[in-house]
Amino acid sequence: MNNPITLPGLIDVHVHLRDPGQTHKEDFLTGTSAALAGGYTAVFDMPNNAEAVVSEKVLEAKLASARKQIVSDLGVYFGSLGENLDEFDRVRERVRGLKLYLNVTTGGYKIDTDYLMRIFTAWKCDKPVLLHAEADVIKTALEVTAKTGQKTHVCHVSCREELEPILEAKKSGLPVTCGVCPHHLFLNEGDVERLGNFGRMKPELKPVKDVDYLWSELDKVDVIESDHAPHTVEEKQSGTFGVPGLETTLGLMLWAERDGRLGREKLIDLLSEGPRRVLGLEKQDATVEVEPVEFKFSNEGLKTKCGWTPFEGMPGYGRVKRVVMRGETVYEDGEVLAKPGSGQLL
Ligand code: DOR
Ligand code: ZN
Repeated sequence: MNNPITLPGLIDVHVHLRDPGQTHKEDFLTGTSAALAGGYTAVFDMPNNAEAVVSEKVLEAKLASARKQIVSDLGVYFGSLGENLDEFDRVRERVRGLKLYLNVTTGGYKIDTDYLMRIFTAWKCDKPVLLHAEADVIKTALEVTAKTGQKTHVCHVSCREELEPILEAKKSGLPVTCGVCPHHLFLNEGDVERLGNFGRMKPELKPVKDVDYLWSELDKVDVIESDHAPHTVEEKQSGTFGVPGLETTLGLMLWAERDGRLGREKLIDLLSEGPRRVLGLEKQDATVEVEPVEFKFSNEGLKTKCGWTPFEGMPGYGRVKRVVMRGETVYEDGEVLAKPGSGQLL
């Protein structure tokens, strides 16, 4: 048998834990339990809750719910539809960044690019603006980064048309980072036939040539983000966008490492060091022990409330055996040992 693998606690800069508002599909306890099961010790939650997190009041309700339940560490982002700029000064210290949607997705919180300049200027601080900006708007968005000098993170980059301008912007010294999701690396548009709506998310799965391009430029990508977006089986059957990812990302990436597609150093960079850099986080006292075994992903035994994965039947490598945070074993052999509320708000 190969040696056990020891990794630093993984960090996911992009999850949707649905709490409060849609706790029939996930809540802070099940979502952070899924995080630990996947080797993540810190996750960062998006503001597209049923009630958008665009005011101090809604933010406080969300943090209050999190405080009682989290078993991993957790941070949250604020949102904006362009009408809450006066809230920014009040909430900036309690959030890790500002998330803006420039394309249609779950929740219907799309804003027009005309708002960007105003929002970026009002936010202006060290904490990043995170963008859902697909191919049609990426260049306009990067122009705003150039004009304002505001740190910008482009989420879930899915194709050449999105990644190329980002890499150019990076080369020219703009403060821009980007993340790629496992589903855009391990699935392609051909899989939609097999998966039906379980293979639908925003951005959509792309042609193989784009997937190949993402792999070929992965050394220039800052983070792998799961975009863990749980929806129930019934909801997926009737057509919502998003797939869960917290419990499958590490197994996929270790599989790719075994396959020779990336080295251990880059894997750790994408899943832990990179996220720390993007969000300006302190080093966490957290380690993950992984058993070096091959397996097939399954819908059985997942901690996420939605209970399915688009990667079912695909091969993975490495089973998370133990997670230790701040000297305490918080997860071992499939069991969450941490008490609800023992995670820290970051
Ligand atoms: O597929 C997606 N689902 N993309 C997003 O940007 C949002 C997410 C969700 O909240 O379900
Ligand atoms: Zn998302």
